[in-house]
Amino acid sequence: MRTQVAIIGAGPSGLLLGGLLSHAGIDNVIVEQRSGDYVLGRIRAGVLEQGTVELLDSIGVGARMHAEGLPHDGVELCFGGKRHRIPLFELTGKRVMVYGQTEVTRDLMQARADSGRTTVYEADAVSVHDFIDGQRPSVRYRKDGAVHTIECDFIAGCDGFHGVCRASVPADRITLHEKVYPFGWLGLLADVPPLSHELIYLNHERGFGLCSMRSRTRSRYYVQCSLDDKVEQWSDDAFWTELRARLPADAAANLVTGPSLEKSIAQLRSFVSEPMRFGRLLLAGDAAHIVPPTGAKGLNLAASDVAYLAQGLVGHYKGSATELEHYSERCLRRIWRAERFSWWMTSLMHNFPSNGSFDRKVQLAELDYLVHSEAASKAMAENYVGLPM
Ligand code: APR
Ligand code: PHB
Repeated sequence: MRTQVAIIGAGPSGLLLGGLLSHAGIDNVIVEQRSGDYVLGRIRAGVLEQGTVELLDSIGVGARMHAEGLPHDGVELCFGGKRHRIPLFELTGKRVMVYGQTEVTRDLMQARADSGRTTVYEADAVSVHDFIDGQRPSVRYRKDGAVHTIECDFIAGCDGFHGVCRASVPADRITLHEKVYPFGWLGLLADVPPLSHELIYLNHERGFGLCSMRSRTRSRYYVQCSLDDKVEQWSDDAFWTELRARLPADAAANLVTGPSLEKSIAQLRSFVSEPMRFGRLLLAGDAAHIVPPTGAKGLNLAASDVAYLAQGLVGHYKGSATELEHYSERCLRRIWRAERFSWWMTSLMHNFPSNGSFDRKVQLAELDYLVHSEAASKAMAENYVGLPM
């Protein structure tokens, strides 16, 4: 098989890149190691920046998002037993769209199927070759017992944090920056109406909490947990009791509980690999960077990476190398700003095991300043709704 761009991974990055390239008339093939159903079974965050919404609209996959997604004009921060609203729209003129990553993925998959472009699911032993110095890189994989090769001009590594692409780069060509946080998030999804019409981020001595949603009838809640915790140790009842304990009394009284549809523990990590281009291999999304979910930036960063990558590749096929040459640099400037914001929000909202009473008081003072200073609220709002692409 021969194509212009071989995309590894059919998560949001790979599917969106495939959509953008197809829209621009650039031939591409996606190779994914899992099945489509497996990819759709992963529950992830669900807050889209306006730029991400516009990108989905630009390739005609925004209809269901506009019909079913929930535009939010603000978020709440809760600490010291009180709720404070950050009016995102009033402060920035922008809103965010609450629409699950699973649904974004489903819409992109549907559009991909309709386009008739090739997507190989359940590809085993995927490997990438001749990308550093060669002009003709290739991808190999095994499917149904046979080995297949895709000859291409470029390989897009959209294969997530554990993928093969970044791992195939010679160690002396890549620099990794990492911070692992000393706690996790236990998440629960349930068909119960959300506690409030906007998201509530909780700072509590018992630990962080988050009240989020997927729709008017489906809620997503999180509580900070220990890294040693196993999801099996957490019954639904234990989860609801812990969340209630972190909520102010009026909010706790309104909490509607119900059986979990899904429950899982996620580790929190900040990670960046530099650069993002290695000859004809270009990394995008979680393959190149991870943010802790506190700022809801993961999917949005993946979207801006692939927007820049698509622009670079379109430029290349039109005879201009400049945009592709600046791909890494352009992405990383935006990535580091989102890394900073996600790290800051994580530090502000969580109970760190090493924190003493001084650190705790400083955290509360910062929150107090944040919600009472328009300048500080605006700085947070500007980052939360997304910095310009
Ligand atoms: N070969 C083929 N596919 C692979 C391989 C491989 N060796 N390794 C991983 N994959 C696939 C995974 O099965 C997955 O479907 O690549 C895909 C990567 O998808 P994601 O992990 O969702 O990463 P990305 O598309 O960059 O999406 C970023 O996901 O984790 C969130 O916060 C993150 O919201 C952001 C988004
Ligand atoms: C979610 O709804 O899953 C969610 C929302 C906001 C975050 C993280 C996760 O910051």
